[in-house]
Amino acid sequence: MNFASVLGKVIEISHSNLEIEARIKAILNIVSADLHFDEALIYSLDKDKRLSCRFNNRSSLLFDLLSDYRCHVGEGVVGTVAQKRAPLFYTLKDIPARLGCLFYAHLDEVLPRYKVFAFVPLADDSFLYGVLFAASSSREAISPGEKVVLSILSRELGGIFRTYDLLLSSKKRITELATLSELGRILTSTMGPSAILENIALITAKALSASFATIKLDLAFIKLNGQRFTSGSIANNLEARVLDLEARVLDLEAEASRLRQPVGFAEALTAEAGEPGETFTILAAPITAKDRTLGTITLGRKLDQPDVQDDQQDRYLLGMIANYISSGLDNALLNIKLRDALRELGDAQRRLIENEKLRSLGEMTANIAHEIKNPLVVIGGFTKRLAKTVHLDPSENRYVEIITKEVTRLESILTEILNYVKEAPLLFERCDVNALLEEIVYLLSSDKGWSAVQIVKRYAPDLPPALCDVQQIKQVFINMLMNSFEAMRGKGTITITTERTDISEKPFIAISVRDTGGGIEPAYLDNIFNPFFTTKERGIGLGLAISNKIVVHHGGYIEVKNTPGEGALFVMHLPCQEKPEDGPGGAPPQTVGWTRGERPVRLKDAQ
Ligand SMILES: Nc1ncnc2c1ncn2[C@@H]1O[C@H](COP(=O)(O)OP(=O)(O)OP(=O)(O)O)[C@@H](O)[C@H]1O
Ligand SMILES: [Mg+2]
Repeated sequence: MNFASVLGKVIEISHSNLEIEARIKAILNIVSADLHFDEALIYSLDKDKRLSCRFNNRSSLLFDLLSDYRCHVGEGVVGTVAQKRAPLFYTLKDIPARLGCLFYAHLDEVLPRYKVFAFVPLADDSFLYGVLFAASSSREAISPGEKVVLSILSRELGGIFRTYDLLLSSKKRITELATLSELGRILTSTMGPSAILENIALITAKALSASFATIKLDLAFIKLNGQRFTSGSIANNLEARVLDLEARVLDLEAEASRLRQPVGFAEALTAEAGEPGETFTILAAPITAKDRTLGTITLGRKLDQPDVQDDQQDRYLLGMIANYISSGLDNALLNIKLRDALRELGDAQRRLIENEKLRSLGEMTANIAHEIKNPLVVIGGFTKRLAKTVHLDPSENRYVEIITKEVTRLESILTEILNYVKEAPLLFERCDVNALLEEIVYLLSSDKGWSAVQIVKRYAPDLPPALCDVQQIKQVFINMLMNSFEAMRGKGTITITTERTDISEKPFIAISVRDTGGGIEPAYLDNIFNPFFTTKERGIGLGLAISNKIVVHHGGYIEVKNTPGEGALFVMHLPCQEKPEDGPGGAPPQTVGWTRGERPVRLKDAQ
């Protein structure tokens, strides 16, 4: 046998471009064919430091027997060779029973086939990678030269294993770096928070070959609080476990922030019907930044998936991702919050300027109204007096009538303007809202113009009294009902509902007026509460502005729900007086959560 040619072949294979596994198998086949060993097997060291028979020569008979069992370092002949990193050679006469390992009982029948046995460690200067096991039935002994060849060959095999490890770890590093750079790109992008979180879930699922990755935020300051962002789908029966795991991770908040590193859990679960017998690993880690937990990131993966790392590796990667996104996410969310705050500030500033403009406009209007009012009274009075003293023909009489009618109309407009502008003090008294509505409905519907209007009343029977200026609130209800009447052009259904509600844990009464008048043109919706906004030929545009001012002064607010083409719904929320001792003069209702002069809250258009 030419040792040089054997070693030459082995070196050629070990430096070839073949896949790692193919290289190992080819070398084992050379050992078998050129060195005449029926068996040439390799035990390799697993991640959990146990040796298992993983590679074999083509004609091996023992592989199927031996690959069932994994041995610890130090256990049996293979374990001893691994531990001492020194080769052992035996003949059938001196080989320890069952290779020195109790669990190989079934070997008793097959071992006598072989005459010589070689166990050589696969190691380099620092690491042990496994053990080469060779057995021959045709050889009587192993010569010193062969032992040297076997040990050189084993070093070469060790080198292949080391290359494999290096390849794996550099692949891992590249994946990690690629993942981190992708995450960095997302976190510094101008995307909205939802898109950022969805993308992070997607990248994490991809990096860890997971069936799903899900992020849940636990941040009261952001609108997304409690929301979940998932890539992939969570099987129904895993959902509860995911929630449970998230809660457990959040419980560890203190520990997680103290250790400044995320904590994960592994759970093996079987997915329900449809995917029988699939076992999942679920890992969750807290996203912690500056000692506060922003939320959790959880991933689930089928256990038997190929190309997956071990659990330890998963934890490490998930932890790294959680750590990386923690500070980035905190910054991104704060930026978004800042952007929102700036926008709100801008809005508030614009509103302030608008209010200021309106205030000076109001003052000016009040002055002008005062100036006009007296001459108007004079014009009206003198016209009537002239009409009485001078004899006029019928057409001239008609002119006088028109003058007095228009003067009266102008006077009432002026009164309304002055009403709107002046700060009338509120005279609080207990008010039975249902009774007040009933009185107004009676008053309005006695007019024959209202005969085609059907009024549906849905009054809450045990409505607590409101604490309000009854005259002013009456005006609000009349304005609302008149608007509905006008929108329906005197024909249709008005539904009035009263109910008791809680707003910010304070008791309120909600009075809604719904009509079938076709609703408000969406483009006008933003303006309807502005003074002098009207779409009516003879409207003044003060009804809603006055009503809103009154309701806001009462510590309440008005909501609008508009259904274009169908009708409008106006809801007035008034603070109510629930306890009998809260009589007039009790706590001022303005303290109930809305500030004076606040703009009305408008609901979105109904779909
Ligand atoms: N129920 C409603 N249905 C449809 N449009 C409405 C309704 N209520 C109000 N609007 C719209 O809002 C505008 C403003 O209403 P507002 O009551 O302030 O003024 P107005 O009714 O036009 O005049 P007035 O000062 O006589 O009340 C109306 O012109 C109308 O276009
Ligand atoms: Mg009106």
